[in-house]
Amino acid sequence: HQSLPEQHPLNGPTAHAPLIRAYRGQRAETTPVWFMRQAGRSLPEYRSLRTGTRMLDACLDPALVTEITLQPVRRHGVDAAIFFSDIVVPLRLAGVEVDIVPGKGPVLANPVRTAADVAALRERTLTDDAFDPIIESVRLLTAELGTTPLIGFAGAPFTLAAYLVEGGPSKDQLAARALMHAQPDVWADLMDWLADLTGSFLTAQIRAGASAAQLFDSWAGGLSLADYRASVAPYSAQALTAVRALGDVPTVHFGVGTRHLLGAMHEVGVDVVGVDWRTPLDEAAAVLPDVPLQGNIDPALLSAGWSALTTHATGVLEAGRAAPAHVLNLGHGVPPDTDPEVLTRLVAWVHEQQP
Ligand code: CP3
Repeated sequence: HQSLPEQHPLNGPTAHAPLIRAYRGQRAETTPVWFMRQAGRSLPEYRSLRTGTRMLDACLDPALVTEITLQPVRRHGVDAAIFFSDIVVPLRLAGVEVDIVPGKGPVLANPVRTAADVAALRERTLTDDAFDPIIESVRLLTAELGTTPLIGFAGAPFTLAAYLVEGGPSKDQLAARALMHAQPDVWADLMDWLADLTGSFLTAQIRAGASAAQLFDSWAGGLSLADYRASVAPYSAQALTAVRALGDVPTVHFGVGTRHLLGAMHEVGVDVVGVDWRTPLDEAAAVLPDVPLQGNIDPALLSAGWSALTTHATGVLEAGRAAPAHVLNLGHGVPPDTDPEVLTRLVAWVHEQQP
């Protein structure tokens, strides 16, 4: 199998970065901080760069990806860059007809519902050069980032399956959850294909220079614990096996509304668990002793005024002391109407607090 190249950032510039140390369970002098969706519509410099380019075209343009990924690092002084891409990019690279509709999200031309649909999907194999734009973007980025780690990411098989089966965003993923029970073999074939795709997308980013990886299972919170364990977790574990084969690369697992799943989400084989804003970090730490945690400022507080925000953030830092290490983040992505100056000020404030 393939291992990390010798000149990988984890073997040099990012080895002792506060983010990487925290992901490995060590407390640093400052609490590392980054924000999910830190790149994007909250930044005027992003909106002007994106004018006239469709989201998925932007994701496959290495110069644009590099600039957009660096924008929040320069502006806010966050402790990590997150690769500018989208969870549906590997589907597009595998030839699935998918578009991201502004204000809506990913939309599939042909939803995947039947045994024949899944069999056709499984015929799609990635060409050797499919990830070239991803690899090129990561190389450009790591050359610029120096000691700041780049976090690679992928959507977990279940969240991708939810989009494929529903054909687009849905509130409760009913069609996907029905397929899981109506045709378990079809479900297994779909999830197995997605697990390998997710694993390839993650390992391509890591081998090219990403220093950590986050698996987004955004919609897993809609599942019962029993369904999650039986029909979802094994495939997330399968994707992560490919990552672990590369070596000691820190991994994070995040979902929304996952209080009942935190233990199972850790057991798929990750180092760090990301927690949404509904579950206090000390409660998460009680379920996950010895596991570094990431989270979980309520995104609504970014628009609630500085005093309400710092009172809330003080509580998050305090609750985070129950974990061996804590990376401050939001409980979900940056809302598009966020004042970016609030984020810049929050990063400086977090760095001033006692970890
Ligand atoms: O800064 C970052 O966090 C990196 C980039 C990132 C994007 N998507 C860029 C993006 C990441 C990590 C994602 C992951 C993603 N994409 C998830 C998992 C995380 C989560 O939010 O739960 C999901 C579910 C998606 C699917 C998706 N893509 C949605 C729901 C949307 C929003 C559609 C809209 O317009 O409201 C997208 C589009 C998208 N992905 C944007 C960005 C910056 C907005 C596109 C634009 O600016 O026009």
